[in-house]
Amino acid sequence: MEVVKEFSKFAHEYGNHNLIQKEVAQTLCSFVDKKKYKRILDVGAGDGAIYENLLEYNIECLDFVALDFSKEMLALHRDAEVIQKVCLDFNQKGFSSVFQDHQFDLIIASSSLQWSHDLSNVLAELSLLSETFLFSFFTSNTFKTLHKIVNINSPILSQKEILDALNRYFIYDLELIEYKLEFSSVYEMLRYIKKSGVGGGVKQLGYGQMKKLLREYPLNYLEFEVVFVKVIKKKKGNL
Ligand SMILES: C[S@@+](CC[C@H](N)C(=O)[O-])C[C@H]1O[C@@H](n2cnc3c(N)ncnc32)[C@H](O)[C@@H]1O
Repeated sequence: MEVVKEFSKFAHEYGNHNLIQKEVAQTLCSFVDKKKYKRILDVGAGDGAIYENLLEYNIECLDFVALDFSKEMLALHRDAEVIQKVCLDFNQKGFSSVFQDHQFDLIIASSSLQWSHDLSNVLAELSLLSETFLFSFFTSNTFKTLHKIVNINSPILSQKEILDALNRYFIYDLELIEYKLEFSSVYEMLRYIKKSGVGGGVKQLGYGQMKKLLREYPLNYLEFEVVFVKVIKKKKGNL
């Protein structure tokens, strides 16, 4: 199913730089179907958008593991008795061995796994730890017009790469959502990208490329594409 969401709001203010990720985390949590979990793993937990949404949706969790490789991000995550923060890089082979098999009754990863160096390996490792999974991935179509103008490839995974990796391990439901975030100027867009967690290769742009964008970017919005995945069951034989 394809839904196009339009944000008609201008995004000037500081603090709005992860507007889309917040919206994505909220949507992903709306797919959580039980009201009580024993143990949840949040992969790339960041500042805790998933945990905050679970609270909002009155979903109880007795033990919540927030995994992130950034201590700074984990420091922003809410503290609570039920929360354990684990500083770990999911790109490191064997990262899942710090947990026990089937330890979690839900694994959730929002806006983080598109940074996987080897998504297939990350999914293989995660699939050992649970039977229930919810994922959201930004795809390489995020900032697609912008990338085209300055002729750069997105550093994040394409929809095809994501689906190819998922197809190896899971049977799943999929939803693709395109978001548009409006800005008053291209300059404001570039500032937003710098502060958002979806840098998209734009941080490395040189002066000439910046000037080209300011001159030629034809839209008054930034494009984002997100794939939402609800795993129905694991495929046998691949694990
Ligand atoms: C865009 S933020 C999303 C945060 C949160 N899940 C949310 O929905 O708002 C991506 C998070 O993934 C983390 N991350 C990226 N690559 C990672 C890796 N290789 N291992 C662990 N965490 C990673 C980042 O530090 C960041 O906190």
